[in-house]
Amino acid sequence: MRHLQITPSILNADFANLGAEVARIPGADWVHVDVMDNHFVPNLTFGPTMVEALARSTDTPLDAHLMIEDPDANAVAYVEAGCGSVTFHVEAARAPVRLAREIRAHGARASMALRPATPIEPYEELLPELDMVLLMTVEPGFGGQKFLDLVLPKIRRARALMDKHGVETWLQVDGGVSLETIGRCAEAGADVFVAGSAVYSAEDPDAMVAALRETAAAAAPTS
Ligand code: DX5
Ligand code: ZN
Repeated sequence: MRHLQITPSILNADFANLGAEVARIPGADWVHVDVMDNHFVPNLTFGPTMVEALARSTDTPLDAHLMIEDPDANAVAYVEAGCGSVTFHVEAARAPVRLAREIRAHGARASMALRPATPIEPYEELLPELDMVLLMTVEPGFGGQKFLDLVLPKIRRARALMDKHGVETWLQVDGGVSLETIGRCAEAGADVFVAGSAVYSAEDPDAMVAALRETAAAAAPTS
């Protein structure tokens, strides 16, 4: 049985109280931090200084998702800020192999994200360089969007490629993940689930983390 992890996104949390917001989800495996530069996506969030402050405020490891135009120049700053995993977008990276190696060399897990319309097949040979692949299930930029079912076949194909290469790469989905959609993602082969609005709009965010984990486990393939 695959180890399933829930990584709540703080994008829809109260930015004026991030330390307290993260303390509301002690059951989370990671905290997903969405870094946006207003160029790669039409939205602006925070940079390494704020991420470093957040890392100091919690024992839960941080999972940075860089939606920025120049990850080659900026990703290492997020490792140095204390993130245990750093995800760059392949559509933005100029040298994804070098970048993944650099992230690993600085001591974090290296991860590569694909927008919904970006195919996984051209990157098959990169899988051994990566600790995780993130498949966006909405167009990146905002929380609270509707889950795109059209990504499900890509989740299946990505999982099949990972099995073929015998790699331990985690497969993360991000965007519109909720109690209603998480089962479809788990069934297709995802094992790491980002959920933003589903968690932070819940009355008890930590109970929602547990419910998401249970729903994913019930749908995940058993072999
Ligand atoms: C969107 C971000 C997501 C977002 C998910 O670009 O990458 O991490 O916070 O939010 P929900 O779960 O509300 O779609
Ligand atoms: Zn994200």
